[in-house]
Amino acid sequence: MFARRIAVVGTGYVGVTTGACLASLGHRVVCADVDAAKIEALSRGVVDILEPGLPELIAEGMAAGRLSFVVGAKDAVSSAPAGTGGTNTVDGGAEVVFLCVPTPMGVGGVADLSIVESVIEEVGHLLPPGAVVVNKSTVPVGTASRTAELLDRDDVAVVSNPEFLREGSAVRDFLNPDRIVVGCDKQDAAERVAALYARLGAPTVLTDAASAELVKYAANCFLAMKLSYVNAIAELCERLDANVDDVTEGMGYDRRIGTAFLSPGPGWGGSCLPKDTHAMLQVADAADFEFRLLRATIDTNVRQRQRMVDKVRLAVTGKRGGSLSHHRIGVLGLTFKAGTDDVRDSPALAVAALLRQAGAELVAYDPSFAAGATNPAPGLLSVVDDVYLAGKDADALVVLTEWPEFRSLDWARMAGVMRRPVVVDTRNLLDPDVPRRAGFTLTALGRGV
Ligand code: UGA
Repeated sequence: MFARRIAVVGTGYVGVTTGACLASLGHRVVCADVDAAKIEALSRGVVDILEPGLPELIAEGMAAGRLSFVVGAKDAVSSAPAGTGGTNTVDGGAEVVFLCVPTPMGVGGVADLSIVESVIEEVGHLLPPGAVVVNKSTVPVGTASRTAELLDRDDVAVVSNPEFLREGSAVRDFLNPDRIVVGCDKQDAAERVAALYARLGAPTVLTDAASAELVKYAANCFLAMKLSYVNAIAELCERLDANVDDVTEGMGYDRRIGTAFLSPGPGWGGSCLPKDTHAMLQVADAADFEFRLLRATIDTNVRQRQRMVDKVRLAVTGKRGGSLSHHRIGVLGLTFKAGTDDVRDSPALAVAALLRQAGAELVAYDPSFAAGATNPAPGLLSVVDDVYLAGKDADALVVLTEWPEFRSLDWARMAGVMRRPVVVDTRNLLDPDVPRRAGFTLTALGRGV
C-alpha cells in the first residue's frame, strides 16, 4: 500500500475522525480548520467532542509524525505534517484533499454549499496536477460536477466518498465500515481513493459521482423512515394493547429487516437525519418527484414529539388535554442520543420546548453536562448537575435520552424527593418493574395504554 499525502479540510467530528483514522492506516495527514483555537487545542491532542478512541488515535498519529493540524486550508494543501522536515510543496503538495466542511440546512431546507465553494476557491489553484478532491460532506446530487466546474481544472478529479459515521462511535465505524462508497466519473481517481482504505477490507462500491452522492441521502432517509415506521408501530401497539418490544424483536430476526435501528423513541434527531431528510425532499422536488414516503417520514417524526407531550399531560393530569401550568417536570437527558454531548436538533430539546409551551416548569439533568456547563436552552429549562435535583419537587420525570445510567437510579430516593412519583419513559429504557416497585406510575411507548 502506498502512503499518501492527504489534506483534510474541516475538523468537525467527521474531519478529525477521518484525519486520525487515515493517519492510523499509514497515510501522512494534515488537518485544517479556520478556527485557530480549535487547531491549537488539537495540536496539543485536546479534542472538543466526545468520541471514544479519538484522543488516543490523534496522539498516536502525532507521535508517529503522520498527523498534524494547521490553520487554514492553504497550509494544509501546501505544508507537510510537522516533524516530516519539509513541506508538501517540496514533496509536490497534497495528493488527496478531503472536504469535511459543514453543509448546513439553508433556505427552504436546501443544503448550503457556500463553505465547500469557498474552500475550492481558496485552494483549487494550489493543487498539484493529478490531485484528487474528495467530498466527504453530505451534499446534494450534482455537487461533485458543480465542484469540478468551480475548480475548472482538467488535471484534478473530484470524487464523492460519503461517510457513514455515527456520532459517539465514529472511530469504530471508520475502522470497521460496512462499506466504502466512491464515486467519480474518472475511474482511475475513484480507484486511487478506494485504495486509501484497502487495509480495511470492506466491500467497496465504485460508481459515478451522482450515485455515490445519492447513496448517502438514500441511506440516511431509509434509517429515518425505519424509525418513523417503528414509532408508528409503537403507537399502534398502544391502541391494540400489544407490546412493541416483542413486536420489534419478532420483526428484527428477519435478516431482511435486522434488529438495529428498531427502538421507538421521542423522534429521531441530531445533526444528520433531520437535515438530510429535508435536503432529500428538496433534491426530489427539484427533480420534479413527489417523494410522499419521505414526506410522511418527516411528518410522523414531528407528530411523535407532540405525542410525547400528550403522554406527559396524561400521566401528570390524568386527562388527555390537561394543562401543565404549575407543574414541574424533571427532564432526564438533553442530547440527541446517548454517548454524545451533542444537542443539535435534539428530540429531547424539541419535546422540552413543547412541554414549556404547555406551561410546565422544566429542570433538566444530562450526564454529558458537567457542573458549570453552559445551559443549551436558557429560558426553556434550568440544568442541574445531580439527577435527584432534577426530580426535586417534580410532578413527573420524563426520560428523553437513553443514557444507561438512568436505568440504575435509586428510585426510592427519587420518589422521596418528588412531589409525585410519576415517570414517562420515551426511550423504553427502564425496566418498568424497578420504578414501579418504588411506587412509581410508569408510562412507556408501545406497551398498551
Ligand atoms: C446518522 C447515521 O446513523 C450515520 O450512519 C450517518 O453517517 C450520520 O447520521 C451522518 O449522516 O453523518 P447520527 O446522526 O450520529 O448518525 O445518529 P444515529 O445514531 O443515526 O441516531 C439518529 C437519531 O435516531 C437519534 O436521535 C437517535 O436517538 C434516534 N434513534 C436511533 C432512535 O430513536 N432509535 C433507534 O433505534 C436508533
